[in-house]
Amino acid sequence: MKIKIAVLAGDGIGPEVTNQSIKVLNCIAEKYNHKIKLSEGLVGAIAIDAYDDPYPDSTHKLCVDSDAILFGAIGDPKYDNDPKAKIRPEQGLLKMRKKLGLYANLRPTIIFESLLDMSPIKQERISGTDILFVRELTGGIYFGERGRKDNNNYAYDTCEYSKEEIIRIAKIGFEYAKKRTKRLCCVDKANVLETSRLWRETVQSMEKDYPEITVSYEFVDAVAMRLIQWPSSYDVLITSNLFGDILTDEASVISGSMGLMPSASIGSGNALYEPIHGSYPQATGKKIANPIASILSLSMMLDYSFKLKDESEIINRAVEDSLKNKYTTPDLNVNKIDYSTDDVGDYIIDFIKNN
Ligand code: IPM
Ligand code: MG
Repeated sequence: MKIKIAVLAGDGIGPEVTNQSIKVLNCIAEKYNHKIKLSEGLVGAIAIDAYDDPYPDSTHKLCVDSDAILFGAIGDPKYDNDPKAKIRPEQGLLKMRKKLGLYANLRPTIIFESLLDMSPIKQERISGTDILFVRELTGGIYFGERGRKDNNNYAYDTCEYSKEEIIRIAKIGFEYAKKRTKRLCCVDKANVLETSRLWRETVQSMEKDYPEITVSYEFVDAVAMRLIQWPSSYDVLITSNLFGDILTDEASVISGSMGLMPSASIGSGNALYEPIHGSYPQATGKKIANPIASILSLSMMLDYSFKLKDESEIINRAVEDSLKNKYTTPDLNVNKIDYSTDDVGDYIIDFIKNN
């Protein structure tokens, strides 16, 4: 197969972890006879430095012309500590999601049996956890009207959703629920928010089209609690942009490290794959960043965008094997020997070559 991939490594540890995925991709291409064309583009702080724009047109064109996008991370402390900064790296990510029409963010939370004791939660509560968050990604409070009034002493952000936006994200949730355990949870704050009431009424009206799916409706605060108490009780969850942002960070550490979980952003055009973690500036250049979330994002890409099941599967097996054999970066310091970002990438490649 011929595949064109846009590589946007971004900021912080983004390039280090993305490099491992590229190594893995090249190894897969060789083993399974695929022709891969990689094109690199700038996004985030690095793009602001070069173009004064965190998502320049040249990067957008590259994304549109590719079959899929592999993204690293975005963010730089020099902007975090400057609330007055007019241009911020994060705007690049939001602009990219909007312009590419990536309205659904799929974020799995799975448990690796070999890492059960790394979880902050008791083993018997997390065993068997396999959750899929479907987070709305191009609407809500992230994209509503915002501003300042009264000489800058008053600020507002507005949350807005249209029925169409809710229907298209809910459809994705229902379809995944169909393929999984047929349970769908709609997470909202319908006891307070009007947008949540529209979510609830819209999803309720769609239930008749999916008679095999059991739908539950839960308030986001209660979900935040139950995710810690009984994570394994959830399967597919659909939720708005901000609630999804918060809940998926909470859920990502259940597996033992935030450095493990991948994600896919899908929508009207080609899809984007990225680790759930951020740019982790404190670790940049130290060779300690865990590349697994990025490598598993590549695996999702091969499966979702190109239907390359065997290729995706072998990457997942290689990752599981590295964890089982405690070949890990310091965030998982399971046997007191730390391996570097590159070491873990190399281990995974060796496994793929030999299996
Ligand atoms: C995420 C991140 C982004 C978000 C930031 C960097 C804008 O936290 O992908 O979850 O809030 O969506
Ligand atoms: Mg986030």
